[in-house]
Amino acid sequence: MKVILVNGSPHQDGCTNRALEEVQKSLNKNGVDTEIFWIGNKPISGCLGCGVCVKEGKCVIDDKVNEFLEKAKKADGFVFGSPVHFAAMSGALSSFMDRVFYGRGNLFANKLAAGVVSCRRGGATAAFDEVNKYFLMSNMIVVGSSYWNMVHGSNKEQVEKDEEGLQTMRHLGNNMSWLLKSIEAGRKSGVELPEKEKPIKTNFIR
Ligand SMILES: Cc1cc2nc3c(=O)[nH]c(=O)nc-3n(C[C@H](O)[C@H](O)[C@H](O)COP(=O)(O)O)c2cc1C
Repeated sequence: MKVILVNGSPHQDGCTNRALEEVQKSLNKNGVDTEIFWIGNKPISGCLGCGVCVKEGKCVIDDKVNEFLEKAKKADGFVFGSPVHFAAMSGALSSFMDRVFYGRGNLFANKLAAGVVSCRRGGATAAFDEVNKYFLMSNMIVVGSSYWNMVHGSNKEQVEKDEEGLQTMRHLGNNMSWLLKSIEAGRKSGVELPEKEKPIKTNFIR
């Protein structure tokens, strides 16, 4: 069982990473393998809408997105972490997730997901909502915690003092571990994946 934790901040070792580390510790304590994947601090293009990825399974822009998609094939769960930028997720992570999730129904369906956000003071729930929207229309199972998954601070030393925020991260890791084990136990005892119908596409004008 493996979980990839995506750090969507331009800071490799900042507040978002500190929150993800706390989730990671809980996952590891429960025997789940983990990897923190930093999206880096180079520009990440938005989706070009060319549709090539739907046919070929990878993006025409060969950057961190393709690197992540390769790793995602073998993962059972995902945590996407973002700093709050103007009451929204970071622009880089927004571009990254647009390109990761577009046309990726089979890659993410029935896997676990959670968002995590870090802010100095405000806008955390708005950013959290944005991150969760990708999972909720990708047939993923969104894992909750004892509060919305957020930490507060301008640097990782301040996040260290956010005891409730860090506890929320630990609970998230424990909940995700428990669900991963439950799904594995269900699979071993013959519980089948949910039935999927042929997609119906409507656009409200016909
Ligand atoms: C461009 C930009 C916009 C920001 N906007 C907000 C904001 O709307 N609300 C807030 O509380 N913090 C805001 N911050 C502060 C960061 O969200 C906060 O310090 C975060 O914990 C940094 O995480 P990081 O170290 O992982 O990058 C902003 C920071 C930047 C660089």
